[in-house]
Amino acid sequence: MKKKVLVTREVFDETISYLAQHFDVTSNQANVDYSRAQMIERLQGMDGALIATSDRADEDLLTRCPSLKAICSVSVGFNHIDLDACTRHGVMATNTPGVLTDSVADMAICLTLATVRRITEGERMVRARQWQGTHLKQLLGHDLHHATVGICGLGRIGQTIARRLRGFEVKLLYTDLVRADAQIEQSLGATYVAKDDLLRQADIVILILPYTPQTHHYIAAAELAKMKPSSVLINIARGSIVDDTALAQALKARQIWAAGLDVYEDEPKVNPALFELDNVVLSPHIASATEPTRQAMAMLAAQNCVAAFTTGNPPNLLNPEVRRKT
Ligand code: 8YV
Repeated sequence: MKKKVLVTREVFDETISYLAQHFDVTSNQANVDYSRAQMIERLQGMDGALIATSDRADEDLLTRCPSLKAICSVSVGFNHIDLDACTRHGVMATNTPGVLTDSVADMAICLTLATVRRITEGERMVRARQWQGTHLKQLLGHDLHHATVGICGLGRIGQTIARRLRGFEVKLLYTDLVRADAQIEQSLGATYVAKDDLLRQADIVILILPYTPQTHHYIAAAELAKMKPSSVLINIARGSIVDDTALAQALKARQIWAAGLDVYEDEPKVNPALFELDNVVLSPHIASATEPTRQAMAMLAAQNCVAAFTTGNPPNLLNPEVRRKT
């Protein structure tokens, strides 16, 4: 008898077809926004689940869904999964690294350019039929080329962003919880500096750190106060890495020049103070949202799920210690 798998959010037909070769699949193809209680109800009796970043897999859920043996997230970030709880319950947890690196790096450059060149302000002006023609000092922005750019987080995606920035002839700084190898720094032309030095020196700060207890509010009022009034903050990582209330206050006070956000604390709710500001670009967590990349993410999550119940060794297993428990 086939194992049973729940897909908590709409995925592609190809993903469903692949999964159906191996499992009895139930998928939320209507993309209903289920409550926590409804999700737990739908997980009853399921052996595996493909989940999204909006689904929290924690001690409570695992206790109330004892049949689960594999939780496969369609995401590279996994802060929505309590790995220790998964291991305690003998549940394999997987993510989808690698396949989205280029698309997210592209979006980091896109969001940076949109922010420094005030693209969305200009779009709003034209769409509101308020454009009366171009003039010398209209919508003056800042240049990405030759800027001092500071990347916080030089992992796969951070390094790919750095490679893209070589084309803009920037001065590239970076900081991270662990310094990168010298040959990586040299190949990227990246100089390691302490976080505070990066905040003081950078014209553009790009956040691409994982969300962990150590990076909660990595950028808050004190950090924003260290940044230059002409500086720009880009968050392409996780909302809670930035204190959005402090950011809105800093933007309103012009303590920093602008921000570009693809993620938010408590998303999809967005701090309403941000809506009142012209110097922030608001993007709805679409950094990996290209057709081929999301197809690849969903398929990789499905392949992780199949491997969990065949080889018992999914390629992107986040808690390998769980194998010793099964
Ligand atoms: C999500 C992301 O996967 O991969 C991540 O960690 O944040 C995104 O690419 C996307 O929102 C689909 O859930």
